[in-house]
Amino acid sequence: MLLTTAAARRVVFVGGKGGVGKTSVASALALSQARAGRRVLLVSTDPAHNLGHLWQCEVGPEPRSLAERLDAIEIDPDATVAAHLQQVGDALRRLMPAHLAGEVGRHLALSQDAPGMHEAALLERIAELVHDGLHSYDLLVFDTAPSGHTARLMALPEMLSAWTEGLLQRQTKSERFGAALRSLGRDDGIGGRALGGETPSATPADRDQAIRSLLHRRRHRFEHLRNVLADAQCTAFFIVLAAERLPVLETIELHAQLARAGIDVAGLVVNKRSPHDAGPFLATRHRQEAVHLLALHEALPSLPLQEVPLLASDVVGMDALDAFGDLLGTDVNPSAPRPPANPVSS
Ligand SMILES: Nc1ncnc2c1ncn2[C@@H]1O[C@H](COP(=O)(O)OP(=O)(O)O)[C@@H](O)[C@H]1O
Ligand SMILES: [Mg+2]
Repeated sequence: MLLTTAAARRVVFVGGKGGVGKTSVASALALSQARAGRRVLLVSTDPAHNLGHLWQCEVGPEPRSLAERLDAIEIDPDATVAAHLQQVGDALRRLMPAHLAGEVGRHLALSQDAPGMHEAALLERIAELVHDGLHSYDLLVFDTAPSGHTARLMALPEMLSAWTEGLLQRQTKSERFGAALRSLGRDDGIGGRALGGETPSATPADRDQAIRSLLHRRRHRFEHLRNVLADAQCTAFFIVLAAERLPVLETIELHAQLARAGIDVAGLVVNKRSPHDAGPFLATRHRQEAVHLLALHEALPSLPLQEVPLLASDVVGMDALDAFGDLLGTDVNPSAPRPPANPVSS
């Protein structure tokens, strides 16, 4: 299910709780698509990165090659915030009169730890990677942070593009106001006062224009990301989970959160499924898991679901990832009800 769906998409997000197997699934998926001839970029947005451990090499904020046609990036949240603030600071300093430069600096220093700053910076980076990555790669695979964080992130493009739109409208008003003043023969910088007053280098009209184009670029990026995320032909979101009570409940909740953000979940991966034929202990677990999976199926009946067995050893290195990828291919018919093979209650 997973592989056939991914083969038909340009962007894949892999989400779920910590430790369920997101990085393993994202990596195996990316590798198998690269093996199939597509150029793939694998991006980890989880601050608790573990691509490096899995691939047994250093992965950082710049793309590095992991296999033929497969590159990877780990987004560094602190560096992303720093770069984001640097960019904002540069723009502000260019646009504000010189005597306010200290003010800008203080504001940005405070912003570093402001709530939502990491998310905003991360989203900006994701938007940039999606925008640019779609030109250079056939497939982008995002290995995301645990559920709540990702769901909030997915709702952000909508918010940020609305917010930018609001700023643009205010900007238009202030531009009109400035133009009206100028037409009254009072072009003395008052039109730009809302942005910090007079500056020797840039005229108010210059500043208005510069701010407009900055806001436009930002809005364009967020809109692009939002459109990509909402386009089920282009993007697939997979949730990885364990067949346990809480993860099942959280998956149902994450599915609802994503639906509210306009994102369709393409399928579920139930990872580390216990074998039914490896002794009585695991057989009991297998039956217990089946009960939870039945609840999952009842809540999300039409969602394709892929089971991946619990393996004897960790998923580390290329051979293990190839083998793991093979396990992602087996289809489970989504429409057929799947009662547990051996319900605990019977
Ligand atoms: N099907 C599986 N069987 C056994 N171990 C697994 C399986 N899938 C993943 N693992 C192991 O579980 C751990 C967590 O997997 P990982 O992909 O890093 O999860 P996440 O990225 O969601 O935190 C890793 O040590 C990985 O090797
Ligand atoms: Mg991970």
